[in-house]
Amino acid sequence: MHKEPNIVDIDTFIDERGKINFLEIGKEIDFAINRVYFISNVSPNKERGDHAHKKLRQFIIAVGGRVEIELDDGKNKFNFVLDSTDKGLYVPCGYWRVLRFFDKNTHCFVFASEKYDAQDYIRNYQEFLDYKKQM
Ligand code: TYD
Repeated sequence: MHKEPNIVDIDTFIDERGKINFLEIGKEIDFAINRVYFISNVSPNKERGDHAHKKLRQFIIAVGGRVEIELDDGKNKFNFVLDSTDKGLYVPCGYWRVLRFFDKNTHCFVFASEKYDAQDYIRNYQEFLDYKKQM
């Protein structure tokens, strides 16, 4: 369904009780979710990520605040802002990512296509560029 990184609209329903957002596999998320993790308590001057994945795909939602996410395919950088539960960011494999400028209360919920596998990470930027060249 998705090949490029993109912001995906998330369905919402609001009434006097509040708001609900909902996502379904096969609609907003085009992979089976094998792992979920949460990022919180990040200082505004700290960055997270700084790595790429060979196989892993992710869908990221920011709850409670704002975060900026830079995705880099080795040639171009793409910048995204998540500041609402009404949207999520689809992150394909093969993108170097940096998450920065977290608000104090931002929680990032990450839905991942694979279980944790240290071998799937590329943590050195030059290695990432070499990996992309050989693809
Ligand atoms: P790390 O990949 O550095 O976090 P981020 O991508 O947000 O910068 O992960 C920090 C540590 O947590 C690292 O030692 C690996 C571990 N970890 C797991 O064991 N399982 C997981 O699902 C995740 C996301 C991380």
